[in-house]
Amino acid sequence: MVKKILYNWKSWWRSIHNHNYFVIKLGVSILLVALAFRLLYNRSFEFSPVSDTAFLENSQISAAPLVSADSQEISDQFSPQDSEGKCNLSYGDWIPDQSEPFYTNNSCSFIEEHQNCMKNGRPDKGYLYWRWKPRGCDLARLDPERFLDLMRNKRWGLIGDSISRNHVQSILCQLSVVEKPIHVYHDESYRNRRWVFPSYNFTLSIIWSPFLAEAAIFEDIDGVSSSEIELHLDILDKNWTKHYKSLDYMIFSSGKWFVKAAIYYEDNKILGCHYCPKRNITEVGVNFAYRKVIRNVFNYIIASKHKGMVVYRTSTPDHFENGQWFSGGTCRRKVPAKHGDFELNDLNKILREVELEEFQKASAKASETGVNLKLLDVNPLSLLRPDGHPGPYRFFHPFAKDKNAKVINDCLHWCLPGPIDSWNDLLMEMLVNG
Ligand SMILES: *[C@@H]1O[C@H](CO)[C@@H](O)[C@H](O)[C@H]1NC(C)=O
Ligand SMILES: *[C@@H]1O[C@H](CO)[C@@H](O)[C@H](O)[C@H]1NC(C)=O
Ligand SMILES: *[C@@H]1O[C@H](CO)[C@@H](O)[C@H](O)[C@H]1NC(C)=O
Ligand SMILES: *[C@@H]1O[C@H](CO)[C@@H](O)[C@H](O)[C@H]1NC(C)=O
Ligand SMILES: *[C@@H]1O[C@H](CO)[C@@H](O)[C@H](O)[C@H]1NC(C)=O
Repeated sequence: MVKKILYNWKSWWRSIHNHNYFVIKLGVSILLVALAFRLLYNRSFEFSPVSDTAFLENSQISAAPLVSADSQEISDQFSPQDSEGKCNLSYGDWIPDQSEPFYTNNSCSFIEEHQNCMKNGRPDKGYLYWRWKPRGCDLARLDPERFLDLMRNKRWGLIGDSISRNHVQSILCQLSVVEKPIHVYHDESYRNRRWVFPSYNFTLSIIWSPFLAEAAIFEDIDGVSSSEIELHLDILDKNWTKHYKSLDYMIFSSGKWFVKAAIYYEDNKILGCHYCPKRNITEVGVNFAYRKVIRNVFNYIIASKHKGMVVYRTSTPDHFENGQWFSGGTCRRKVPAKHGDFELNDLNKILREVELEEFQKASAKASETGVNLKLLDVNPLSLLRPDGHPGPYRFFHPFAKDKNAKVINDCLHWCLPGPIDSWNDLLMEMLVNG
C-alpha cells in the first residue's frame, strides 16, 4: 500500500514536472511574494542589519498533501535501526519532559530579536517541555561542560543560511551555561561572526553561504531583488572554502534559497535557469541545481583528507497553516504534531530526496578516503514541531496595541529556547558515540 502511494506520487510528480505546471504555479507565487515582500521587509532590523530573506523562499509552492500517511504507515516504512543496526536518531517521538530549558531570554544574550519568543511575549510555555526520544535508543541531553571539554582548542563552523544562524544561537545559549562566549569577529553585515569560549579555547563561527556555491545576489537590505540570482553550479563559494582547512568541525546546510529565481552557470556559461520567464533560457528545476551543488560540496569534502568531522544538516520544513506567510498563514499550535499530521511540501520533498540520495553516495566514498562525514537529520523531528516557531512573536508584543493586529507570522525559524535546542543533543550523541 505504502509503496503504491509512493510510486504513484513519484510518477505524478514526474508528470506535472514535465508539463511545467510546477513552473507556472511557482511563477504566480513568485509575483505574489515579490509584492508581499516589500510589505514585510520595509522595516529596519533591531538586532543586526541582516535581511532574513530565507523566509520567503519556502512558501512559494502550495503545500498540498500528496501522500496520505498515518502513523501506522510511517512505522511500517522505517525501522528504528539503520542498515548497520545503529539506532536511527531521527526516527522517534517528542515526549513530555518537565525539565527546564538550559537558558531563558534573561540568561542568554545571544538570541536574535525575531526568535526571542519569551521576550516578545509569547504567552504559552508548553512548547518548551518536550524531549526528542528516538524509538531505538535513548538520547541524552547535551552536557555543555562535557561538550566544551571535548572541544578544547577546536574550531567549529556552521555554514549555511538563516536556519544555521538560528542553530548557532542555540549552541551559544546552551554552552553559555558553562562559560560566556566572547564575540570576537563580525563582518559589516553581521552575516559572518565568530565567538570564543576563552577557558576552552573553543571557537564557533557562523559562515553565511546560503547556496554553498558561488552566487551573485541582487537584493537590497530589505531582500527586494532587482534581478535573478546568478548561481555558478560548478564553483564552490569561497566564503566557506577559504575557512575549510582551519575548521575542525563543520556543519553544512542549504536548500531553501534554491527556490529563488536564478540563472544557472556552468563553466561560466549559462546552462539554464529556475523561474526566468522574461528570458529565453531553459528551466532546469530546483532539484537539478541543488543536486549539482551539493554533489560538488560532497566531492570537495571527500577529496579534502579532512581530519575533523564534517556534518551535513538536512533542511527543515515550515508549518504555515491556512495560508502562506504572505497570505495570512499562521502557526498557532501549542503542542507537537502526531506522525502524519504534516507532510513535507513539494519543495521540501525535493530537497530531502536530493539530500538523502547525495549523502548516501558521498558517505560511501568518504569512508574510503577516511573523511568523517555525518548526516545530522533534523528534518523528521522538526516536521513534528509546528508549535516551535515564533509565529507573530517575531515582533515585540505584537498585540499590545491592538489584539486583532494583522501580523506576518514566522513559521519557519525556531523560538529560542525551543525545539531547535534538541539538535545539539543529536550532535553530542554523534560526537560521543560516532
Ligand atoms: C531515519 O528515520 C527517518 C524517519 O523518521 C527516515 O526518513 C530516515 O530515512 C531514516 N534514516 C535511515 C538511515 O534509515
Ligand atoms: C524575558 O521575558 C519576560 C517575559 O517572558 C520579560 O518579562 C523579561 O523582561 C524578558 N527579559 C529580557 C532581558 O528581555
Ligand atoms: C587555541 O586553539 C588553536 C587551534 O584551534 C591553537 O592553534 C592555539 O594554539 C590554541 N591556543 C592556546 C592558548 O592553546
Ligand atoms: C561572499 O562574501 C562576499 C563579501 O561578503 C559577498 O559579496 C558575496 O555575495 C558572498 N557570496 C555569497 C555566495 O554569498
Ligand atoms: C530562444 O532561443 C532559441 C535557441 O537558442 C532560439 O532559436 C529562439 O529564436 C530564441 N527566441 C527568442 C524570442 O529570442
